[in-house]
Formats: sequence, structure tokens, C-alpha cells
Amino acid sequence: MQRTQRITVVGAGLMGHAIALEFALNGFEVRVYDTRAEALADLRDRARQTAAPLVQIGLVAAPDLEAGLARLHPTADLAATCADAEYLVEAVSEDLALKQQLYRELDRLCPPGTIFASNTSSLPPSELGAATSRPDRVLVAHYFNPPHLIPVVEIVLGRETSQATADATAALLRRIGKTPALVKREVVGFVANRLQAALLREALALVEQGVADVESVDAIVRLGFGRRLAVFGPFAIADLAGLDVWAAIARVIFPTLDTTPTPPPLLAERVAQGQYGAKTSAGFYPWPTDRLQAALAERDAELLHRLAADRRRSE
Ligand SMILES: NC(=O)c1ccc[n+]([C@@H]2O[C@H](COP(=O)([O-])OP(=O)(O)OC[C@H]3O[C@@H](n4cnc5c(N)ncnc54)[C@H](O)[C@@H]3O)[C@@H](O)[C@H]2O)c1
Repeated sequence: MQRTQRITVVGAGLMGHAIALEFALNGFEVRVYDTRAEALADLRDRARQTAAPLVQIGLVAAPDLEAGLARLHPTADLAATCADAEYLVEAVSEDLALKQQLYRELDRLCPPGTIFASNTSSLPPSELGAATSRPDRVLVAHYFNPPHLIPVVEIVLGRETSQATADATAALLRRIGKTPALVKREVVGFVANRLQAALLREALALVEQGVADVESVDAIVRLGFGRRLAVFGPFAIADLAGLDVWAAIARVIFPTLDTTPTPPPLLAERVAQGQYGAKTSAGFYPWPTDRLQAALAERDAELLHRLAADRRRSE
């Protein structure tokens, strides 16, 4: 496992194709399975498009991209994909019943030693492991979107996940330049989505209470403490401000923070009206196609810039 050069990816959508690409660019032979024929047929084209900015900024040399794309092997034959799989990344649609059905099949088709790593955003690894005869070899390795541009991967252990499985996953992720972050116990939302949900709940409450509008809240986060968050986590920020200061802040602010347990009207009403955000062209903001494309390009340019800086520092 430590020296494996092979990976299997099941589910070649938004996340799966880019995770497969990362492994391929780092020298792994990657078998990719999906139930949708078109996801396999255009896998290399999508991977090429996804990798284009990495080439433009010089993080990947053009010949290395071609070599990487040649290491992506789409296949519609799950049994053959699994037959000698050592490490399997699962990135199929977020549906517990569908995933459990798949895990039962994978368990039957893969050798007993194969590790299954799910990219689920929300499902507990124990519930996926329970569909197999190897819960010690099942965990969550949660990449963030876009997975080829965001360095951290949450490794979430299920109740029966072994230390060896966690160690093998962390070692593998380091080999492709990722930073694994251990979540020792499965909790709803893992760490990242709990923190993001806490921020969004308070942001919604502030707008609902008329304290600030959507644009102001976004500006305060994005151009304010968000700038720092790209450099320091909340604990380092607290250390730099002074823990005495934060203890005083906590005493005053914590009792006033929102604790609403359900989506507040500001969110629920938009959803009821079919305003789901970018995917329906309207949410808190209007998202005409050109604006959305520009916003995604700006996001990716910032992420690329940071990735290039990380690489320079580690060289
Ligand atoms: N989109 C995100 O921002 C994001 C971020 C982190 C994690 N995730 C998680 O990653 C996983 C995939 O999400 P996505 O956004 O890539 O979804 P997606 O819809 O883009 O891709 C899912 C792919 O799974 C395939 N699929 C469905 N059932 C299958 C099966 N039984 N066998 C093989 N392939 C099957 C679909 O054909 C599709 O190509 C989900 O668990 C999701 O929660 C998503």
C-alpha cells in the first residue's frame, strides 16, 4: 500500500474527475468507473479543461499533463476495476441508500484488503462501513471543491476504522501534495461544514434582524477577517489577538449568538420560491451566466495563486 502506484475512483462527476486527475498528475495509474457512459467518454476532456489553469500558471508542465491524462483509465466494468484494487476513492452522488448499495457491491468485488475512502460531504463513515465486511478499512476522505486547488482533506474515522487505514490514507494524500487533517470521531458535518454552518447561521440572523444587509456581511467576511482566515485558523487568530481578549469577547458575545435550530425564513423562503442560488440563476444575488463565470474564474485565480505560493514555500 505504501508504494502503490494505482488508485481506483468510483464516480467521475464534479469531484471524482478532479480527484482522479490529481492522482494521475502525481504518477498514479487511475482506474475510473461511473454508471454514466458520458462521464467516462468525456473524462479526459473534462480533466484536461480542469487542469488547463494549472498548466497556464506553470504548476504543471504541458508534457506532464499529457502523461497524467494518459494515466486516467475510464472503464464501465466495475468487476475488473475492483479485481486488484488497493485503494478506492468513492465520489458518487450524495445518497446514503445508493452509496450503501454500492459499498455492498464493492465489498463483494474487491480484495479483502482494499481500503474504501468516501468523499461524502455529510454521511457518517460508520454507516458506509456497515454495508461492508471490512468497516476497519472504510473512512471518509473529504476533499473540498475544487479538489485540485484546495490543499486540505478531512480524514474522518468511523467507529471501527483502524489506525492503519487512517495512516495509509494520510500517507497517500501526502504523496499527492495534500494536507490531511484528522477528524477523530464522526460528527454531523465533520469539522468544515460545522464551522461554515455556524458562520452562515449567524450571518443569516444578522440580516434577518436588520443589523446589516447581505452585501455588507459578505464584504466584512471577504475583505475583513476572511483575509486572515486564509493565513491563520481560528485558534492562531485567537492567540495573536490575545486569549484574555477573546475570553472577554466570549463573555459578552457568546450569549447573544443565534441558536436557531432550523433554516430561518431568509433561507427557507428563497428555497420555497425555487431560488437555489447560482444553479437557478438567483439566490441572495442574481447569477446571470456571465457573472457566475466571472465569479468562478476569480475564485480559481485566487486559489491558484495561493497554491503556487504554497509550492514555492515548500521547495
Ligand atoms: N460538489 C461539491 O462541492 C462537493 C464537495 C465535497 C464533497 N462532495 C461529495 O462528493 C460526492 C460526489 O459529488 P459531486 O459533486 O462530484 O457529484 P456529481 O453529481 O457531479 O457526480 C456524481 C457521479 O456519481 C455517478 N454515480 C452515481 N451513482 C453511481 C454508482 N452507483 N456507481 C458509479 N458512479 C455513480 C454519477 O453518474 C456522477 O457522475 C458526493 O458524496 C458529495 O457529497 C461534493
